[in-house]
Amino acid sequence: MKPITQTPIVILNFKTYLESTGQNALKLAKACEKVAKETGVNIAVAPQHMDIYMLAQEVEIPVFAQHIDPVVAGGHTGSVLLECAYEAGAVGTLINHSEQRMKLADIDEVIKRTSSKDMVSVVCTNNIETSIAAAALGPNFVAVEPPELIGSGIPVSQAEPEVVEGTVDAVQKIDTSVNVLCGAGISTGDDMKAALDLGSVGVLLASGIILAKDPEKALLDLVSKI
Ligand code: G3P
Repeated sequence: MKPITQTPIVILNFKTYLESTGQNALKLAKACEKVAKETGVNIAVAPQHMDIYMLAQEVEIPVFAQHIDPVVAGGHTGSVLLECAYEAGAVGTLINHSEQRMKLADIDEVIKRTSSKDMVSVVCTNNIETSIAAAALGPNFVAVEPPELIGSGIPVSQAEPEVVEGTVDAVQKIDTSVNVLCGAGISTGDDMKAALDLGSVGVLLASGIILAKDPEKALLDLVSKI
């Protein structure tokens, strides 16, 4: 397996689409693994929590959680415990996705707990200012995603290039070891190339691949211009 943080990196967030749930999640993860092997690009998947164990058993690409709660072991019914995600096979996690926002202090707590397990932390942000705050907490990645472009099919790398470039510049000033990803509306090889040209080291995406007629073909196109 490649180092989990090898860049360029593509992280496919399975969200809660039926097309990426259960057996469909497995099929999609296998397609990601095939494209990763054929192209040498680091492709990670972030399935729903209940699919983490199955996928981690079945594929050799990194499997991330979509969210971890800032709780320690004990009485927290319904929460996602970091140790449980880790034992299920998650090697990293998204944190503070726009669809699962968290308090700053809780983001800090989860980043610290991921690093204690050598798990990769990807903090999602919605603009340059929140990216600066996230970078100050020292995650592995900050993934900037303007919420209005999520699921829109309009790529952030082309619609709001200044947000990506501005985030890269600002994060560099805070901590040069924090890498920037971008996401929202990304689906094609041109979108991915534009993202890399703006200084990000990869993309976080979902619908452009998950809802494509042929996700494997869409993935191949996505990484074709790297
Ligand atoms: O986590 C990725 C995401 O929020 C972007 O979604 O569907 O615009 O690629 P999408």
